[in-house]
Amino acid sequence: MRFFIDTASRDEIRTAQDMGLVDGVTTNPSLMAREAAPWQEVAAEICSLVPGPVSLEVLALDTEGMVNEARDLVRFGPNVVIKVPMTADGLKAVRILHSMHIDTNVTLVFSATQALLAAKAGATYDSPFVGRLDDAGHNGMEIIHEIRTIFDTYAFSTQILAASIRSPLHVRDAALAGAHVATIPFAILTRLMRHPLTDVGIELFLRDWKARHGADT
Ligand code: G3P
Repeated sequence: MRFFIDTASRDEIRTAQDMGLVDGVTTNPSLMAREAAPWQEVAAEICSLVPGPVSLEVLALDTEGMVNEARDLVRFGPNVVIKVPMTADGLKAVRILHSMHIDTNVTLVFSATQALLAAKAGATYDSPFVGRLDDAGHNGMEIIHEIRTIFDTYAFSTQILAASIRSPLHVRDAALAGAHVATIPFAILTRLMRHPLTDVGIELFLRDWKARHGADT
């Protein structure tokens, strides 16, 4: 499963890259709005920092506006993926961008039927929001299982990009469910490798070694 980092923070991206954990980046208007620098500067730097796919989201709600924005956004680099909302206009934009060989990421997906429509439109990625479904009292991970079954049954090439990840368990369960990608916030990414028993085990190994061989060996 590929790990994308869900952030527009260049510092977070650099730190995660140093850990070898960045296969790509997803941004959205809220994440971009957190950055002090002009969004164009943020987008350009992220696209140059990360060789993998970088999702940049359109703001327009009409098909023509989305396609026009996409034409501008792809100028940031060959790794740009255009993020469009799961709407009728968004699906039309996906079809047009697909014919232009521009990769797309359909976002704000909350049902398997929405994911099916996005795949039929030719989306490169589908972004079901697991965490927000959980927040609304649903079993968000169930959607990933349903989408995977549908995509396998009909051999869709669209990739399932598990989004709105809230915990390391979400990452585990998305992998078990067969998501192609999980886009993970920095705070979660850095927790994935931690376990208290690992820390205790390291301390015990060093303690026993020092007891026998002294602290200087
Ligand atoms: O960026 C897309 C998605 O991962 C954001 O989810 O719920 O953390 O805002 P959320």
